[in-house]
Amino acid sequence: MRGDGATPPQIPGPPAEDDGAEAVAAAGGLHNYQLNLHAEYGPVVRLPLPGAGTAVSVADPVLLEATARINKRPEKLFEFLAPLQESGNLQTIPADEHGPWCRVMLSVLAGRPSHEKHFAQFTALTNELADRWAERAAEGTVALQKDLSELSLRMICEYALGSSLETPESAGQVVSAFEKVLTEYLTDRADMPGAERALAYLRGTVDQVLAAHRERGADEEADRSDLIAALAAAGESPARIRDTVLMTMLAAHHTTGVAISWTLYLLARHPDAAKRVVDELDEVLGDRAVPEYADLKRLTHLDRALRETMRLYPPGPYGAREATEDLTLGEYTVPAGTAIFYPFWAVHMNPEYWPDPQVFDPDRFTPEASAQRPRLAYIPFGIGPRSCEGAALATVEAQLVLAVLLKRFHFELASGQSVTPVERFVLWAAEDINMTLTPRS
Ligand code: HEM
Repeated sequence: MRGDGATPPQIPGPPAEDDGAEAVAAAGGLHNYQLNLHAEYGPVVRLPLPGAGTAVSVADPVLLEATARINKRPEKLFEFLAPLQESGNLQTIPADEHGPWCRVMLSVLAGRPSHEKHFAQFTALTNELADRWAERAAEGTVALQKDLSELSLRMICEYALGSSLETPESAGQVVSAFEKVLTEYLTDRADMPGAERALAYLRGTVDQVLAAHRERGADEEADRSDLIAALAAAGESPARIRDTVLMTMLAAHHTTGVAISWTLYLLARHPDAAKRVVDELDEVLGDRAVPEYADLKRLTHLDRALRETMRLYPPGPYGAREATEDLTLGEYTVPAGTAIFYPFWAVHMNPEYWPDPQVFDPDRFTPEASAQRPRLAYIPFGIGPRSCEGAALATVEAQLVLAVLLKRFHFELASGQSVTPVERFVLWAAEDINMTLTPRS
């Protein structure tokens, strides 16, 4: 990629010999690839990106500001999600359609009424898992990632479809139908008829919720704790509502699950930080086994540990945009049409803003320390108009689950366990994270 003439220098980067797939594999994944390139070429790098031609990666939070208003994603990179969407891929719908949809999403997902309304059910689901773990702990180890991803999926099903899932069985069916869709559509395509049936079942379930909502009538239309009702009241089509539920389930479950399991992992490796979190839980909760919604904001050490974990292991390590006009990034010009690849993880590892970036230190998130950093130095939920609408909800879920589990158990890494982060849809621990649990008296 070149600047437009003699003035702006060319963005540095490796020779573009192929589509980059080999270089990515040789580096051990996209994250390492980007990290190596930024170490070699500086904060703005041109790189061949599999599926996107030539892209530009930016690891400096100040330079990122110039990209923060872009409201367009490169279609090719998100094509794999298209089969799940009837009314246009929500990841790449144009800005004029995205804006109203995003506002409705935020009015529900980011609002306190919806968090409070679902809190009791989230707590019950977490307690169920804790009870199962208590039984299993006596016999052996517990696999965090698997169980916590499933818990997050149950939570988001309850959140999006709650009123229609009258029985635990129907909630279980939704969860397994979704897992079927995910495995077959997005990976090996081994059982497409089965996946089609599962997808039809999920869409039918959303339609039932919509029908029930219509029967209840206009009274509840203003309810800002009900995602489907709010989308319907805003005039979104049934197909768009079905797509939204699927996209929300997809975006919500692994991300939140791994955020919780990475936090438990890092706390198990850092007993001093864990002690601060647990002492605070004992102080705030006293004899209570679970927090109230209002307790969460008093759990400062827990919140800092969660944030620091998502810096070191951001569940969604990348993002992408397409420049809609020429951009000036420091001394460089990025022409309109260029794919911009956001290395969220590499931004979190930038030593200029994060001294000793590999070190786990929750105190990086005291208000004073946070105030010293540029706004975009910490971006686990992405940037600008296409950033994560679920950030506030995910934070409530993660804080609640961590509070319940850390109040109840002491966590220790299973002996011989090695934990290797790998990039799948999310930043995943290759062999899960196995822990020995001891009940706290
Ligand atoms: C710890 C948990 C989570 C993390 C780390 C996370 C992270 C992210 C990231 C990095 C993006 C891409 C942002 C960008 O391109 O700038 C994203 C998008 C999105 N996330 Fe999340 N997410 C989490 C949980 C959730 C939850 C619970 C929901 C819904 C309830 C959700 C819904 C979405 C949606 C709908 C998008 C697409 C945004 C758009 O295109 O407008 N996420 N998330």
